[in-house]
Amino acid sequence: MMEYFDFIVIGSGIAGLSFSLNVAKKGKVLIITKKEVIDSTTNYAQGGIAAAIGELDDFEKHIKDTLEAGAYHNKLSAVEFMVKNGPKYIEELKNIGVPFTLTSEELSLTQEGGHSQKRIIYAGDHTGNSIETTLVNAVKSNKNITVWENVFAIDLLVKNQTCYGLSILKNKKIQHIYSSYIIMATGGVGQIYKYTTNPKISTGDGIAMAHRAGAKTKDLEFIQFHPTALNLPHRQKFLISEALRGEGAYLLNHEGKRFMQKYSPKKELASRDIVSRAISIEEESGKVYLDITHKDKTFVKNRFPQIYKKLKKIGIDITKDIIPITSAAHYMCGGVVVNLKGETNIKNLYAFGETACTGVHGANRLASNSLLEAIVFSSEIAKRLKAKPKQNKFPEFPILKTVVCRNTAKNLSYTKRLIKEIMWKNVGLVRTTGGLKKAILKLEKLKQDFKFYTCSDTELELKNILDTATLITRAALKRHNSLGCHYIR
Ligand code: FAD
Ligand code: SIN
Repeated sequence: MMEYFDFIVIGSGIAGLSFSLNVAKKGKVLIITKKEVIDSTTNYAQGGIAAAIGELDDFEKHIKDTLEAGAYHNKLSAVEFMVKNGPKYIEELKNIGVPFTLTSEELSLTQEGGHSQKRIIYAGDHTGNSIETTLVNAVKSNKNITVWENVFAIDLLVKNQTCYGLSILKNKKIQHIYSSYIIMATGGVGQIYKYTTNPKISTGDGIAMAHRAGAKTKDLEFIQFHPTALNLPHRQKFLISEALRGEGAYLLNHEGKRFMQKYSPKKELASRDIVSRAISIEEESGKVYLDITHKDKTFVKNRFPQIYKKLKKIGIDITKDIIPITSAAHYMCGGVVVNLKGETNIKNLYAFGETACTGVHGANRLASNSLLEAIVFSSEIAKRLKAKPKQNKFPEFPILKTVVCRNTAKNLSYTKRLIKEIMWKNVGLVRTTGGLKKAILKLEKLKQDFKFYTCSDTELELKNILDTATLITRAALKRHNSLGCHYIR
């Protein structure tokens, strides 16, 4: 039996969930997601969501800051679309119950790097989890939305530049599902790097899938590295939110001295590309630390409860101790090219959120503009879409046979480690043309030598990691000069 839905959404982060909620009046929506519905980068977002709602703020200032952080590589019309629709979606999130932090009944605003104003709306230091759980609850109570968990999107069904659906791995079987609207909201790529702030699901599946189907990608060389990830041996690079610096934390070098004044007049609140590179220079002499011990202890505990608890468990009391930090891969500024209607160059195929390249972020994303971009584009465009009559006939797409996995788990994890090492070493924060060339040779060799089987999500993910890593490296090789996050030495 052919399974058809009016809208198929791949991904259950802020982009996929917001799109679904805003389109559900117009037809039956299917969300597929490769783990549990809550599993998303969105769920880990800490700092907040930007919008020009402060008394001293306005759209022009938010636009200017976004362009400046993006090294003016941004698409102005997309930036305007996001900024001008921003306050409306903060209001919507509030209205559906996101428990943003308040100060005397008004939304509290904080500061982050690159912002000239206090412009970040937040829920403690767990903004993403508050947004994700509220959206998931709204989706669960919407009768027009069905969620399939633990279902892996393998590839798009495309003929003559038109997308008709996708092949999926569900209960270990491959099947096709069809729709007139296929929405990619598959998030970022951090897991292609050895060190990342991203969760396990961020493996670049959407970008790899879209590219294989003939969709255009852009700006993939602009990988943002977050300057302050926890730096302890054998520990995950847990993010220490930029909001700590927004509330006055300092960066210290191995001598315990502040150093950011040497690199930018904005000091600790310079944009991320500048701060990350400054840290990498300071690291040549020793470890770098974040210090919030000079702030009121009760304030710190209440303002950053998650970070406080997490670090306390491993023996760091952030009210008394300085925190060892370093940079880690954080965000994909480019992605699958879409216009202001969310359309890709493939008919019926749309992309939103971190997977998409709307042009908003340019060469370096302004902090907390990511959640904003995702919700504004996905929701606003969902509201404007018209339902299409159900199609009954589709071109034939042969169903791939489910085959036996021949790679061992050891083999797969070794190859994954290898790719992550190559990317970290050669396509990281500071790049050289020689290093990029070396990386591409190694990645291409792996592509030739490694035989993937369409049999499990582990193998499918690894193929996507390799495809995405190759695309990013190729894009980096094409850009000969430094710009934003792409820094060539
Ligand atoms: P995601 O939330 O990542 O969702 C992607 C979904 O797609 C997931 O459900 C995933 O399982 C699913 N998926 C992927 N591939 C497949 C497949 N093949 N088949 C089926 N399903 C699939 N941004 C801000 O603006 N403010 C912040 O404070 C902030 N803090 C951050 C903190 C951390 C630690 C990190 C890592 C990022 C942070 N960001 C922040 C960035 C922001 O969280 C993300 O850019 C944003 O949440 C992405 O949302 P999304 O909906 O595009 O993707
Ligand atoms: C953070 O809290 O530092 C992350 C903010 C972001 O990625 O926008």
